[in-house]
Amino acid sequence: MAASRSPIGVFDSGVGGLTVLGALRRRLPDEELVYLGDTARVPYGTRSAEVVSRYAERAARFLARFDPKLVVVACNTVSAVALPAVERSVAAPVLGVVEPGATAAAGRAGGHVGVIGTPGTIRSGAYQAALARRRPGLRVTARACPLFVPLAEEGWTDGELPLLVARRYLAELSGIDTLVLGCTHYPLLAGVIAEAVGPSVALVDSAEATAEAAAALLLRQGIAAPAGGAGTERLYVTDLAESFEPLAARFLGRRVGAAELVDL
Ligand code: DGL
Repeated sequence: MAASRSPIGVFDSGVGGLTVLGALRRRLPDEELVYLGDTARVPYGTRSAEVVSRYAERAARFLARFDPKLVVVACNTVSAVALPAVERSVAAPVLGVVEPGATAAAGRAGGHVGVIGTPGTIRSGAYQAALARRRPGLRVTARACPLFVPLAEEGWTDGELPLLVARRYLAELSGIDTLVLGCTHYPLLAGVIAEAVGPSVALVDSAEATAEAAAALLLRQGIAAPAGGAGTERLYVTDLAESFEPLAARFLGRRVGAAELVDL
């Protein structure tokens, strides 16, 4: 198959990566997207780098079966701690969300950037290092916000409770001018996060930045789908396929087809 007609593989620990799938779809309407959510092993964000790498390798090998022209790692935790494991497992170029997110934030920041993500992402220091490479001397304050993931999955994304949680987590980020949403789930909580940090702080969504980077990579390598291409999505999960659809609709803001259950 000509590379331009091959699909883009998208991988996440669960449903959260659909925020990245949505951004890819908006930016690349002609591409065929194959999404794998490892719902049997989610969450990744609270696990060790070694375990996440092992899970990521298996997921990447599954996506390799589709002969993708590009693999997008939608999961911030995998992007932060296990990108080499994914790269080892597929022949295609691999794009994580950390580098594009850091590029967008470094380009926009004044002098002080906040980064929020899962414990694994923050502990890895990947965003902090990527920002320092782009803007040496830039002040970076990072904070893990583990409760945001279950809140987003529960659909508690606005009102008193998530706002209270956001205020508590983000209090120590005072003085930042830019905030990186370094987790697939956080765009759903953007409203309360913005309210907690105040209107002077710009929010950077890694999902949007990654879709831009994917489009640029396809163009650079001459492998973008022709206009009027498939524009279809195939969805796979490793557990609870029946609960995927309603959750997916919330993360994507539109209905999606049924996900197929697979074993890695
Ligand atoms: N997808 C993960 C991330 O972006 C969040 C959910 C999880 O912990 O697996 O880091």
